[in-house]
Amino acid sequence: MTERPRVFVSRVLPGGAAPGSPLATLQEAVDLSIWEAQTPPSAEALRTRAEGCDGLLTVLTERIDSTLLDAAPRVRVVANMAVGYDNIDVPACTERGVLVTNTPGVLTDATADLTWALLLAAARRLPEGDAALRGGGWGPWHPTWMLGHRVSGATLGIVGPGRIGRAVAERASGFRMTVLYAGRRAVPDFPGTFVPLDDLLARAEYVSMHVPLTPETTRMCDAAFFARMRPDAIFVNTTRGGVVDQPALTEALRSGQIAGAGLDVMTPEPLPADDPLLSAPHLVVAPHLGSATLETRTAMARLAVEGVLAGLAGRAPSNAVNPEALAMPRRRA
Ligand code: GLV
Repeated sequence: MTERPRVFVSRVLPGGAAPGSPLATLQEAVDLSIWEAQTPPSAEALRTRAEGCDGLLTVLTERIDSTLLDAAPRVRVVANMAVGYDNIDVPACTERGVLVTNTPGVLTDATADLTWALLLAAARRLPEGDAALRGGGWGPWHPTWMLGHRVSGATLGIVGPGRIGRAVAERASGFRMTVLYAGRRAVPDFPGTFVPLDDLLARAEYVSMHVPLTPETTRMCDAAFFARMRPDAIFVNTTRGGVVDQPALTEALRSGQIAGAGLDVMTPEPLPADDPLLSAPHLVVAPHLGSATLETRTAMARLAVEGVLAGLAGRAPSNAVNPEALAMPRRRA
C-alpha cells in the first residue's frame, strides 16, 4: 500500500472539517495535521510541524524561507491561502523544486468592496460621526459640522492596475468619477487613463494602493509621496502595510498634508493599540479584512486545497506562482 502524503495546514479553515468543506476534501486524499490555535505557529513550531510533510497549506503570517524548507525536505508544494505571497521566499522554493500557489481572483470583489468601504468611510468621516454620536457629542444640526469630501464626480487614482485595482476602478463608474491609474505599463481596457505616478498624485482626490509588496514597492509611500498628494486627498491602502512608510503617513495626517486615510493593512499586524498611527486624525482603520467574507474565505480555502493536491500530483495549476519549480530536480527527503 502506498503511503498517503502528509500535509500541514497552518490554521483551521472556513467550514472546519464538516462534510464537503475544503479541509474535508483535503482529508480524503492526505494525512492532515492542523494548527488549531487562532494565533500563528512560531517559526520553530512551523519547522517542527512541517518536518516530514509533503505539502503545506499556509496563510500570510507564516514565513516560508530556506531555513524552513531545509528543515522539511519532503515538502514539494506550499499553497498560500492569500493572493499576496510576500511571506514566501519564492526563489528558495523554486531552487528546491517546491511549487508555490496563491489564491488570485476569488478575493478580488471582496477586497475591492472593502476598499470602497474605507474610501467612503474616510471621505464622509463615518467613524468620527459614529464616535461623536455615541459619546454624546451630537449637537444641533450645523451647516459646518463634520464636513467631509465629495466622492461623486471626484478623481480616483489607482496605483497598481492589477485585478483588484481594476475592480476598484470599475466600481467608480457609479460615482461618475474620473479614474487615473499608474503602474509599470498601460493595461488594455483598463477603465481609466494611464498617467505617470507624479501626475496621479498631483491630481487624484483619492489615491488607492494595489501594488504587491516587493523590494521595489517596499515603503514606496514615503514622505515625498505624501508631499506630492493634494492636501484635500485621501489615501487608501488595502494591499500590504509594507508599501507605506508608516511614520511618514502619520506625520502627513497630523500636519494636514493630506486630508485622510483608510487602511486595511498596517505594520506590524496586529498593530498595537498604542501605536502612534492610531492617534493621527482623519484615519479609518480595519484589521486586514479585505477578503473577510465567508464566501470569499471558503473559496480561497478551496483554491488552496486544490493547489496542494495539484502540487502533490506534480501538476502546476493556473494559479501556480512558480510553475518552473516542477522542472527542478526533486530533493531527496
Ligand atoms: C490578503 O491580504 C491576501 O493577500 O490574500
